[in-house]
Amino acid sequence: MTEYARLIIEDQEYKLPLINGAVGDRAIDIRKLRQESGFITFDPGFGNTGSCKSSITFMDGEKGILRYRGIPIEELAEHSSFVETAFLLIMGRLPTREELTTTSVNLNDLSLLHENMKSFYQNYPPKSHPMGILSAMVNAMRSFHPELVENQEDLQRTFLRLISKVRTMAAMAYKFSVGQNPVYPNPNYSYCANFLHMMFDNPVIPYRVDKEISDALNVFWILHADHEQNCSTTAVRVVGSGKVNLYAAISSGISALWGPLHGGANQAVIRMLKEIHTQGLKIPDVIKKAKDKNDPFRLMGFGHRIYKTYDPRAKIMKEMCDKVLKRTKTKDPLLDIAMELEACALSDAYFQDKNLYPNVDFYSGIVLRAIGIPTNMFTVMFAIGRLPGWIAHWNEDFNDPEMKISRPRQVYTGESLLPYTHIDKR
Ligand code: SDX
Repeated sequence: MTEYARLIIEDQEYKLPLINGAVGDRAIDIRKLRQESGFITFDPGFGNTGSCKSSITFMDGEKGILRYRGIPIEELAEHSSFVETAFLLIMGRLPTREELTTTSVNLNDLSLLHENMKSFYQNYPPKSHPMGILSAMVNAMRSFHPELVENQEDLQRTFLRLISKVRTMAAMAYKFSVGQNPVYPNPNYSYCANFLHMMFDNPVIPYRVDKEISDALNVFWILHADHEQNCSTTAVRVVGSGKVNLYAAISSGISALWGPLHGGANQAVIRMLKEIHTQGLKIPDVIKKAKDKNDPFRLMGFGHRIYKTYDPRAKIMKEMCDKVLKRTKTKDPLLDIAMELEACALSDAYFQDKNLYPNVDFYSGIVLRAIGIPTNMFTVMFAIGRLPGWIAHWNEDFNDPEMKISRPRQVYTGESLLPYTHIDKR
């Protein structure tokens, strides 16, 4: 029996069907609202709007719950690998041992870039941001792989091609930025180890992949692999809804993630911590600045549209800081500053009243610094992790018969009607 919401507008009652998910938010189906009442809804930033039905990731922001295909993030971080988690997100279930092996072999087979792509990198201005380069290279993949996708098998190969090559693209951007020749993928390495190899190996000082660091990178990418309808995933779904090829849709997701309010926050957090450290700023003064309505400064890595408690990923990331710093035998003064900032903010009424807690970006930069990733590559690391989630959502949207091209409406606030005036009369 369908339940209804009753909406009364100017003495007219409208019945709007209710939609129940498996768990979590319930929805009022407004698909017929304008046709029946002439009204649309208004929700800038879509904070209260469900854009789709999805079975990929479940979040409970009040309880700090995050599950990929029903499996808690804590269990995946402890037991899974990034490749296995990518399979889970895209295929909807964990792989068999044989499927996992085949996936890893295919990822190795697909890890090389077309040699002609090198000239793209060589012609970028030296200080180009790697997120801009990555977005362009992913879009360019359509030109190197124009084959039409005829069936699910072709599609899965396209997914693997992207997941494999995104590492090579990212590492190549870094190598060119430091004036070194790119390092080719080594098929003897696992997914994460191969990335570290391509990033840091060089003919003078061969890079020895440390398993604990490669394991930490696995967890880092598992934590970033999906997050339901976030800004960049929404971009992928919106762009994909026009039935453009997957590479172009993913390229739009990379661009959306770049922003400092979204994936760019991990880079902004380190910039903030470095500033506090180098200028010897007092933590209470920083907190005061973050609370000042007239000051655009925000505590980067804090707050979240969905989480109104501690981001479960931040908890795991914070534990990883100690592990990776211990393994690399390094101390990072920025970690001490981050922990002092967190303690001060969480005991402050402003942050408590607004339910502002550390999010995934608050500690992730400390882990990446310890691994040796340069700051301007932090958001690229986020993008590599998020790629399986973007692909899973693109695929879900592409195959959902209920989904249509995204085309929101607006509340128009401009001039209602104006005659054209000749330039001499303006
Ligand atoms: C990611 O959506 C996802 O799932 C994203 C993500 C993912 O995995 O895909 O989790 C990844 O993007 C994490 C967020 C990274 N961004 C940052 O850390 C940037 C700093 N955070 C803020 O800009 C903010 O908290 C957002 C953007 C994350 C969320 O913004 P909202 O939901 O639009 O909340 P808001 O801006 O309306 O803030 C509500 C109130 C405001 O005060 P009032 O106007 O009500 O008085 O809280 C204040 C804000 O001023 N506030 C902050 C703050 N974040 C919110 N004040 C100080 N410092 C902050 N960080």
